[in-house]
Amino acid sequence: MKLIFDENPVKIMSRELPEIKNLLNSGKIKVCVVGIGRIGLPTALSFANSNLPTVGVDINTNLVNMVNSGEFPLKDEPGYAEIFQNVIKNKKFSATTQLEEVVPKSDVILLSLPTPMDTNSNPNYSALESVGKKLHDLIPRDSLVIVESTVEPGYIENDFVKFLEGNDKSLISGRDFGLGVCPETANPGEILKDFKSLPRLAGGLNDKIANIIIDLYKHVFPVEIVKMPDCKTANAAKLTTNVFRYINIAFVNELAILCEKLGIDIMKVLEAADMKYNFQVHYPGPGVGGPCLPVNSVQILHSAKLIGNNLLRMVSLSQEINDGMASHVIDLISEALQSVGKKLDNSKVLILGVSYKPNVKDIQITPAEPVIKKLQERGATIKIYDPYFKSSTVFGIKTEENLVDAISNIDAAVLITSHDEFRHIEPAFLASKSRQLVFVDTRGVIDIHVARKAGLVVRGIGRGGN
Ligand SMILES: NC(=O)c1ccc[n+]([C@@H]2O[C@H](COP(=O)([O-])OP(=O)(O)OC[C@H]3O[C@@H](n4cnc5c(N)ncnc54)[C@H](O)[C@@H]3O)[C@@H](O)[C@H]2O)c1
Repeated sequence: MKLIFDENPVKIMSRELPEIKNLLNSGKIKVCVVGIGRIGLPTALSFANSNLPTVGVDINTNLVNMVNSGEFPLKDEPGYAEIFQNVIKNKKFSATTQLEEVVPKSDVILLSLPTPMDTNSNPNYSALESVGKKLHDLIPRDSLVIVESTVEPGYIENDFVKFLEGNDKSLISGRDFGLGVCPETANPGEILKDFKSLPRLAGGLNDKIANIIIDLYKHVFPVEIVKMPDCKTANAAKLTTNVFRYINIAFVNELAILCEKLGIDIMKVLEAADMKYNFQVHYPGPGVGGPCLPVNSVQILHSAKLIGNNLLRMVSLSQEINDGMASHVIDLISEALQSVGKKLDNSKVLILGVSYKPNVKDIQITPAEPVIKKLQERGATIKIYDPYFKSSTVFGIKTEENLVDAISNIDAAVLITSHDEFRHIEPAFLASKSRQLVFVDTRGVIDIHVARKAGLVVRGIGRGGN
């Protein structure tokens, strides 16, 4: 595929802001986005749609081929299919696997690489490290590197900058290139909406870099771009929002178990509490999944560990509580089965929803996985139905094609993800398919009274008093 960059880099870091604005308005700033996954692809498309020639780089050859053949891969991101077709038609966007071809011609190199956790629950920054080391030999003089990936505070200043500068310090940040961050806060499934409404945080290794990032992002996104004092403050703010949620979910998860024991329905508690002006509602569930909340908790804990002093114990405790919810789900299923004279061993259990969140096709760190594993360890046979994973194999299990077949001939159904399709499930329909069907609602979706009347044996996280 022919590279859509045909002019030399404009040396953005050597320019003054009014000049940069002119270059942006005339579409002369060339952008390279490394990592065109869930976040990177919509980001790249937004830059291209603002008339800036943009190339996406990814190691995933299938993804690159798909993009270049005009097929939009993110079917569950409303609004982007049209933008994708538009920028491909206007030759403002293409993709490649060849970092070394694109970076030397780019003005802005934006990194949207994965920053997951490893099996020992440590942050894994290996993609940033490997690309950062390659960039040392590739970035043009006076270009600007922006890290959108989520990293812990201090990682950019203490570690990442060294990869770009090289062991021999043959490049110096601030003198030979600019480095800054603009951490991503969009929500999968709603990225376009969030890009149009959520303020962005911009930080740089110096003031000039931050100002250039602000003008660049203002050109692309119609939102407030907030200037942060430095990269570490921007990254700390990004982590704070997600870790705040993680801790609050842990709180309601334990509160939910208390409510069950006290004969109280937590949904009523939360509804009432939410009427107070300074309460922010969070809901209990079978665990906390996705590429953000659990990983961001690990990142902030790692940051705390480097400092010492036993800081952020609350986050460690939250991990323990949130990770423990899968076992609580198993207890609910087991107790409900026992109440109708059945056992988990040899039972048939249907998992409703494997995505880690509603209405997206994404199973990263999904709570469905530990629930399924624990059920299998206890001798249950598992069926899976998820409208986003039909005709596929998930965790070694062939998924069901439709809900009607899935629900037949089972002992229990466990709702793990509150996809819209499950919000409209009729209890009478479920009850008509399997006799004495146990239904465990981990998301507070079902009206327990209606479900019981229909003949289901219902349990729910925190749903005491029903
Ligand atoms: N998905 C979210 O909800 C979300 C929200 C906010 C922030 N973030 C952050 O954004 C960053 C990207 O997340 P994502 O969800 O888009 O991840 P993703 O896995 O969907 O996409 C990452 C892409 O990078 C590519 N890649 C991996 N290594 C590469 C390499 N060496 N060179 C080139 N490409 C490479 C992968 O093939 C993949 O296409 C992460 O730091 C994440 O924490 C994610």
